[in-house]
Amino acid sequence: MAQLSLTTSIGSLELRSPLIAASGTVGSVWEWAEIAEVSHYGAAVAKSVSPVPWEGRPAPRVAPTTMGMLNGIGIQNPGIEEWSASMETRIASSRVPIWGSTVAGDVDGFAHVAKRLDAAGVGTVEVNLSCPNLEDGQMFSFDARRAGDVVEAVAGTVSVPVGAKLSPNTPDIVEVAGACHEAGADFVVLTNTAFGFGLSLPDRRPLLSGAVGGYSGPGLKPISLRCVYEVARAIPGLPIVGCGGVSTGRDVIEYLVAGASAVEMGTILLAEPKAGSRILKEVQAEMRRLEVPSVAELVGTVEEW
Ligand SMILES: Cc1cc2nc3c(=O)[nH]c(=O)nc-3n(C[C@H](O)[C@H](O)[C@H](O)COP(=O)(O)O)c2cc1C
Repeated sequence: MAQLSLTTSIGSLELRSPLIAASGTVGSVWEWAEIAEVSHYGAAVAKSVSPVPWEGRPAPRVAPTTMGMLNGIGIQNPGIEEWSASMETRIASSRVPIWGSTVAGDVDGFAHVAKRLDAAGVGTVEVNLSCPNLEDGQMFSFDARRAGDVVEAVAGTVSVPVGAKLSPNTPDIVEVAGACHEAGADFVVLTNTAFGFGLSLPDRRPLLSGAVGGYSGPGLKPISLRCVYEVARAIPGLPIVGCGGVSTGRDVIEYLVAGASAVEMGTILLAEPKAGSRILKEVQAEMRRLEVPSVAELVGTVEEW
């Protein structure tokens, strides 16, 4: 087969590769980029940043589980002021496009951080809606109206594309994705971690200090893939970035076929920071096997029974 094309587009965004490093698993990107072969990635998303520093939760806050891991980090970050000061020059000289991620407890906070991320030169702003709002402690992602309000405020503030990152625990993922789309999201990221809980024996303590945390890794894949499939079918005009449990080229292909234009990978990079090069080779081998010359031709090609 002739040369394979790995380029893909998420709306108006052109990516050299369908692989994206997921937020929170590659630090502020900079540290990881020193050791990873970043040419294999279309972009890398920095850890979510809030308006003021967040301390995060006490240890233990990460734990391995069957088919993945639990984390209850609590989005520890230095706040947007410090983040901008340390990242601006790094973003300009990075060999991989860096995306930012905004998180906050209210609409104004999300928009404030997004504005600063944009000013710092990020290629895209992701809106991390898996965060409790200050009013009632419920995740923004669980409520279509609230999620839409956040996205509208962010989209009205920045000049770069906006992606809404949703929780797989969102009761009606199609409704919330649709609200984000109408509010101005250029794409959705499906999904963040799922709620999970684990116990340590014999002491019978929860694995995480916060008890319930976020489950990620291979066990999350069928859940996130279901979200991609359902949103792609229901809202054909909304670009999707798949995320959850990607650890092989086969996983990438499945996400593309289900309707994603690109995929983010997180947990695998903690175990194997250079996984991108292996996974991209596996993607190419699968493409040859399927006799498909370009990644873009795979997107949304599920054959129904
Ligand atoms: C240790 C850790 C920290 C994370 N921090 C963030 C974060 O700051 N912002 C965010 O949007 N997602 C965060 N995530 C979620 C990942 O970006 C990703 O959505 C999730 O882990 C599912 O993908 P995976 O199965 O490939 O890891 C974090 C995940 C892990 C494991």
